[in-house]
Amino acid sequence: MSADSLRVSLAINGNRVDLDVRPHQSLLEALRDQAGLTGTKECCSEGECGACTVLLNGRAVTSCLVLAAEADGAEVTTIEGLSLGGALDRLLGQLAEGLVAFRTAMGPAWQTTTVVVMTEFGRTARPNGTRGTDHGTAGAGFVLGPRITRAKVSSDWPGVGQNALYEGRDLKPTLDTRAVLKAALSGTFDLTAAQLDRVFPNSSAVRASSGLMV
Ligand code: FES
Repeated sequence: MSADSLRVSLAINGNRVDLDVRPHQSLLEALRDQAGLTGTKECCSEGECGACTVLLNGRAVTSCLVLAAEADGAEVTTIEGLSLGGALDRLLGQLAEGLVAFRTAMGPAWQTTTVVVMTEFGRTARPNGTRGTDHGTAGAGFVLGPRITRAKVSSDWPGVGQNALYEGRDLKPTLDTRAVLKAALSGTFDLTAAQLDRVFPNSSAVRASSGLMV
């Protein structure tokens, strides 16, 4: 340890780690450069984009704005800690297995099938008291099937920095769900815009997403 460095002790993803950090070094830099956890990304460096978000003692923070020295003694959870072997990893694995089993069971009928998977609730940016993120606003979903043009993300990522949140708490919506559902329905059943507006009443201002289906 050099004269101008400080030793901090962190519990990162459940493992006790001692790091020698500079007084003004960010937690983001310490995680990436010293702990080797590069799943935490640097982008804006101003607390706006959320690419560097980690959980600090269970609370979501933008690690580019937190000094590593401030985090001494804290529990830090990075994306690596939520991935392999974690609850999200397990649940997404079960979802994937279910979708593959469905596709297999459909047999030849799969060629005329489109599957939409959507979250029941939008998501908050921070975990609630039971460590969930339900009852928020924006969410995520998948559209799957042989008529999808190509694998792509059909939305923007506003980030989870405090200033990017919807009403200061939720992931901000950037795409109307009905636009995606209209595209999936029209691509599967060859419906007209007028028919789609009858499926989703009072939605004539929302056009089907283009380029989603062949
Ligand atoms: S890099 Fe930290 S919020 Fe963008």
